[in-house]
Formats: sequence, structure tokens, C-alpha cells
Amino acid sequence: MVKVGFIGLGLMGKPMARNILKKGFSLAVYNRSRAPVEELASMGAAPCSSPAEVAQRSEVLITMLPDEPQVAEVLTGVFEGMRSGLVLVDMSTVSPMFSRQMAAAARSRGGDMLDAPVSGSTMAAEQGNLTIMVGGSRKTFEETLPVLQAMGKNIFYMGESGAGSFAKLCNQIAVAVNLLGVCEMLLLASKAGLNLSQVVEVVSTGAGGSWQLANLGPRMISRDFNPGFKVKHLRKDLRIIREISEKLGLPLQAVALVSELIKALDEKGHGEEGTQALIKLVETLASHQISNA
Ligand SMILES: NC(=O)c1ccc[n+]([C@@H]2O[C@H](COP(=O)([O-])OP(=O)(O)OC[C@H]3O[C@@H](n4cnc5c(N)ncnc54)[C@H](OP(=O)(O)O)[C@@H]3O)[C@@H](O)[C@H]2O)c1
Repeated sequence: MVKVGFIGLGLMGKPMARNILKKGFSLAVYNRSRAPVEELASMGAAPCSSPAEVAQRSEVLITMLPDEPQVAEVLTGVFEGMRSGLVLVDMSTVSPMFSRQMAAAARSRGGDMLDAPVSGSTMAAEQGNLTIMVGGSRKTFEETLPVLQAMGKNIFYMGESGAGSFAKLCNQIAVAVNLLGVCEMLLLASKAGLNLSQVVEVVSTGAGGSWQLANLGPRMISRDFNPGFKVKHLRKDLRIIREISEKLGLPLQAVALVSELIKALDEKGHGEEGTQALIKLVETLASHQISNA
């Protein structure tokens, strides 16, 4: 079995790394803060003190980091310890142009790189059920598939480098616009005096059902704003989508609206909360806090 490395052990990365260990791969890990490194080490992973050390110990090296500056910083270290043939798999949500740049840098050093962002949130990361969208060489994708299968169930080859990142951004448009719809739906239901839990259940069985509604609707109602997917990360995704749509001349009205709201929510200090916290901003604008009749 190939030797795997994992850098970025946050809400997503830690359970993903755990699943790789569970499947019997040898695993080397690194993270900025040490606590998750120690936790994975107690389960059998090799703790590393730098990205270069992870690179030296790996044949496939996965990164799951917040944004492009962190991926670029980590890969600078990885390139120092990189041997020819190393396959990098960046599973962070970043722009396709950045994915292509990093893949070219990896190839120029005798390695290869896939962009393989994910969908499904922390629950799917824990259960090994993630959807994974992959861009890069098909041959490298096929060789890396057993490692990806340790983390995900629905794994799609999307095309050349950057295609995985493009697919993920498409996913994020549907996520963000739908999230706002769920907030507004609950606002109206609350004003109408309906039982909100029942409304979530009813709509979930019909054509209005969605992942956002089924998973985040109940958390909005119970005012559980703990993060699965952080507001600051959705802000970043929407920023990337808007930069690309600007370059392509695409008018994306719903994206513009929801990205301004998410930006305002982050600026109000809710960046570390889950995206379901959008309900708070929608409530403020409507001068009405939702409550279960
Ligand atoms: N959460 C979701 O539901 C979800 C779903 C799909 C995709 N994503 C995407 O997946 C990526 C990760 O998301 P997440 O929710 O796991 O984020 P997160 O909880 O914020 O975790 C990020 C991790 O990266 C580490 N890190 C940051 N900078 C680093 C550096 N320079 N060197 C080493 N480690 C560094 C952090 O370490 P510290 O412990 O020091 O902070 C933290 O452990 C993001 O691009 C996000 O958009 C998230």
C-alpha cells in the first residue's frame, strides 16, 4: 500500500486522515497547531514537524487547508522535501487557476498533482462518504483512487487540472443560494406561526427538499451555530466564484446577493460559526427572530 501524508487536520482534514489510517495505509501528518497531530499520532500516524518531513515520508500527499495562501505556503515546504514521483492531492477549495499553477509547479519537480475538492461536510468526512471531484491526469487519478476511496464514496474524474476545482465552485453556488432560501423559508414559516420543525419535515419530502434544508434547517431552529462549514470559508468560495464570473463576463445575480450577505455576516464577527448562522443576519434584516410554534 502506498505511503500517505496529510497536512491540514481541521474540521474536515482530521476525520479524513482518520479514515485513511482505518483503511490500513501508513500515514504521516502535519498541522499548524499540534493538538490534532498528537491525536492522530495516538492512533498510529507518524507525527511530522514540517511539510518537508511529510513529503519525505510520502508517496501520496494530501492537503486540506483553508485557502490559497496556506496551500501555497505548505507546498513551498513540501517542494523542499519532495522526491520525484510524489503525487500531491489538494482537497482544499481553491480557484482552478491556482490548482493549475500548483500542478505545473509539482510536475516541474518530477511529481504530479490532482485537485480533488470535496462536498458533504464534516458528517460525510467522518463516515467516509464524501463526494470528491478530481482534476488532473487520468492515469494519476486511477493510481490514487484507493486512497480517495478511503475518504469518499462518490468519486468523479472531471477532466484536466483545475476541473475538480471548477466542479466544486459549481457545487458552492448551489449550496449558497439554497442556504439563503432555507433562511427565508423559515422566516416566513415563523411569521405565519407554523411549527418550524414540521415545515422542515414537510418541505424535505417534496420538491423543495435539499441537503441544506435537512441538515442546517434544524440547527437554525435549535440555534446551534457550531461549525460544520465555517462562514469564513463560504465567503472565500463566493469570492473566488465572483472573481471567475467577472473574468468570464457572467452575470450571477443570486451569487452576488448571497456573497454580500455572507461577507456582512463574517464582518459582524461570525466567521468561525457554521454557515447556518446566516439566519441571524436574515432575522436582523426582517426584525424577527424565528421561533417554533
Ligand atoms: N467544513 C466543511 O464542511 C467543508 C466542506 C467541503 C470543503 N471544505 C473546504 O476544505 C478546506 C478545509 O476546511 P475545514 O473546514 O477543515 O477548515 P478548518 O477547520 O479551518 O481547518 C483548517 C486546518 O488547516 C490548518 N492550517 C492552516 N494553515 C496551515 C498552515 N500554514 N500549515 C499547516 N496547517 C495549516 C489549521 O490548523 P490550526 O489548527 O492551526 O488552525 C486547521 O487544522 C477549506 O478549503 C474549505 O473551504 C470544507
